Amino acid sequence: MRLRNCHNFHDFRELARRRLPKPIFDYIAGAADDEATHRQNTVGFERCDLVPNVLRGVEAVDTSVKIMGQKLALPIYCSPTALQRLFHHTGERAVAAAAAKYGTMFGVSSLGTVSLEELRKIHHTPQVYQFYFHKDRGLNKVMMQRAKHAGIDVMMLTVDSITGGNRERDLRTGFSIPFRLTYAGALQFAIKPMWGINYLTHESFKLPQLDDHINMDGGPVSIGRYFTEMLDPAMSWADVAEMVQTWNGQFCLKGVMSVADAKRAVDIGCTGIVVSNHGGRQLDGSRASIDQLAEIVDAVGDKLDVLMDGGVQRGTHVLKALSIGAKAVGVGRYYLYPLAAAGQLGVERALDLMKAEIVRGMKLMGCTSVSQLSRGNLRFR
Ligand SMILES: Cc1cc2nc3c(=O)[nH]c(=O)nc-3n(C[C@H](O)[C@H](O)[C@H](O)COP(=O)(O)O)c2cc1C
Repeated sequence: MRLRNCHNFHDFRELARRRLPKPIFDYIAGAADDEATHRQNTVGFERCDLVPNVLRGVEAVDTSVKIMGQKLALPIYCSPTALQRLFHHTGERAVAAAAAKYGTMFGVSSLGTVSLEELRKIHHTPQVYQFYFHKDRGLNKVMMQRAKHAGIDVMMLTVDSITGGNRERDLRTGFSIPFRLTYAGALQFAIKPMWGINYLTHESFKLPQLDDHINMDGGPVSIGRYFTEMLDPAMSWADVAEMVQTWNGQFCLKGVMSVADAKRAVDIGCTGIVVSNHGGRQLDGSRASIDQLAEIVDAVGDKLDVLMDGGVQRGTHVLKALSIGAKAVGVGRYYLYPLAAAGQLGVERALDLMKAEIVRGMKLMGCTSVSQLSRGNLRFR
């Protein structure tokens, strides 16, 4: 199987599965507990049907959107995800380059493996910095200053990860940073030697957003310790309100699911929220993002930009979310599988297919711009 034979999400996923050692594939593919929320995120799109209009003159279609002051050529963006150089040795560099080529936004995770400064210098497409809130308030300020200084366009604070989700696939394989593989997990690396060769012959593994700031007692960086020892489970609305003031720019909360929280995000001055359950990786049983989107748009959609992510695999999924009222849609695994399968070329192919699906879908819906999509185009089963 080759990249040119990949025509959709499932093909990329299969190519990634063949190329990655199972513990790494399972880290991407997996979710919390029974993975029910993860499944529902995609199934939810099938509870909603598109109702097209015809004969509307659709020769030229404009797919651009403006969110939090950023102009995107496509209504999708690459949501921040951790550890990308483990999936392909080009990691965030490949994702950022592909996002820039397609004129869209990309996110750099706090657990990213390439520095936010390096990517900002090379690419001029909007860049998000995904932030975790530390117990050390001084450290939070220093990290925000660093992001400001680098020229980050949007600060995105993840609020659904106050404690780690229960990812049982990772427990089985022993996936962690640093690796603590089970015997079965280690065997899976042995049978995918190309991954190991690439990993060992390229720049060593680093977490440059954290390395400068966090002294893990000289020992190897353990993500488990980072979450349990450095992040603040007491994080409150007052803390975030202060952060919003300090940042003094586009500020987005990622992982808002309730109307009450969406309203508080407005009150403290956020300019965007992402309706998200972290791709089902945190609270299993949490409602699918697409199902929860309408009530949040109705409550706050005229006061800040409501984005959504979770389960998006198709251009028509994007059209459904936009029709409900999302201003843009984030994708995670949709670009991670092609990254793992084929690096930058893979991500470009995935974005290209997504763009073609969105344009085709809009034409078939009778729309020439994203603003023409509305709930009038939808029916729910
Ligand atoms: C492998 C992986 C790593 C992720 N790492 C982060 C992260 O570091 N910070 C964060 O806020 N979200 C992270 N996410 C969540 C994504 O940003 C996004 O919310 C989610 O992937 C959307 O669901 P989807 O994968 O079904 O598109 C991660 C997701 C995956 C699959």
